[in-house]
Amino acid sequence: MKERTFVAIKPDAVKRKLIGKIIERFENKGFEIVAMKMIKLNRELAEKYYEEHKGKEFYERLINFMMSGRMIVMVIEGENAISVVRKMIGKTNPSEAEPGTIRGDFALTTPDNVIHASDSKESAEREIKLFFKDDEIFSE
Ligand code: TYD
Ligand code: MG
Repeated sequence: MKERTFVAIKPDAVKRKLIGKIIERFENKGFEIVAMKMIKLNRELAEKYYEEHKGKEFYERLINFMMSGRMIVMVIEGENAISVVRKMIGKTNPSEAEPGTIRGDFALTTPDNVIHASDSKESAEREIKLFFKDDEIFSE
């Protein structure tokens, strides 16, 4: 089933000049990038983005990290994009992420774990809407 998912290259990865290496993996896999831009989160948007984690012990550090620099946000389209992209990014804690996954290969700690991807159809729809207008998405 053809799906769309939301992916963000986090501020640590942009600072480390990993944008190209990360995007290359999704293109190699056969996915289509149908929307993309560079942004810097303010507190309001960062809090909306991670509202599901409000109140958790890592929340404040996470929000401050997400506001710490510019990011790349994109919409990726393809067969089973949501679950396949989650598999490609690897486990949340990069020290447990398998080698061969993006977090497994490029990160070691949280919250600076290089990349975000939607974890369900509902979160994909919500996150895409948070960052893109309909006419900024170019479907095949
Ligand atoms: P979460 O949605 O659980 O993970 P994922 O990014 O894999 O969907 O958490 C969001 C981010 O919050 C995660 O990428 C890094 C940060 N985080 C921590 O800093 N410490 C933690 O214990 C957890 C669970 C997440
Ligand atoms: Mg998540």
